[in-house]
Amino acid sequence: MLLQHQTWQEVEEYLGRSKGIILPIGSTEQHGPNGLIGTDAICAEVIARGVGEAAGAMVGPTIGVGVAVHHMDFAGTMTVRPSTLIAIIHDYVLSLARHGFRRFFFINGHGGNIATIQASFSEIYAAFEGVFDQRRNDELRCRLANWWDGRAMHELAKEVFGDNEGSHATASEVALTQFALPDTIKHVTLDPPRAPSGRFHGPADYRRRFPDGRIGSNPGLATPDKGQRFHDTAIAELAKTYAAFLGENA
Ligand code: NI
Repeated sequence: MLLQHQTWQEVEEYLGRSKGIILPIGSTEQHGPNGLIGTDAICAEVIARGVGEAAGAMVGPTIGVGVAVHHMDFAGTMTVRPSTLIAIIHDYVLSLARHGFRRFFFINGHGGNIATIQASFSEIYAAFEGVFDQRRNDELRCRLANWWDGRAMHELAKEVFGDNEGSHATASEVALTQFALPDTIKHVTLDPPRAPSGRFHGPADYRRRFPDGRIGSNPGLATPDKGQRFHDTAIAELAKTYAAFLGENA
């Protein structure tokens, strides 16, 4: 159930039975030679839509650009400052809260967003709880869920890709985009097949250490069928997490 595909009357009717909404959040950044620039936003969106279907929940518009400063030496990457992303999340949530939404479930596709999303929740709570102006009488809660996280997802990544999963342009996220958008699959040879691992500081150092953009991964092993396993498992896990979130103190 996509917010964008409802009428205002349908949203009002939904609010009569649920105060929950799912918001996908991703990034627009390089993902190596066979990964799409939109990988993190595409993954978050496809998982969020699946969870929305499974849980009968409303899904809001995707926040498509995240905090991706360290990818800026690769063409096509976009970034926003953490303060900008905090402002966007704050304004999205308080817009929806005005209509009666109270449980905000963010499905995230980008590790670099995590700290900023958490900071935005603190900003939202301070505003909504009336720390600086008018006090509200009801409760608003935000929750962050990274689609790749949790025991079932880590076990699946280990089973399917082992040490080739990596930490950026991972085999699983590339597989998931191949499942979601089979027409966009890139047929390129990865050299070396598995990228180097390690730490970095800033965009120039990142590009020097990881010249094709990947870290520790071999997304050449990705296939749409493998992507479907990650898709189905993530949706099943997150639908449970979402239901528990709605049920807290209900
Ligand atoms: Ni990614």
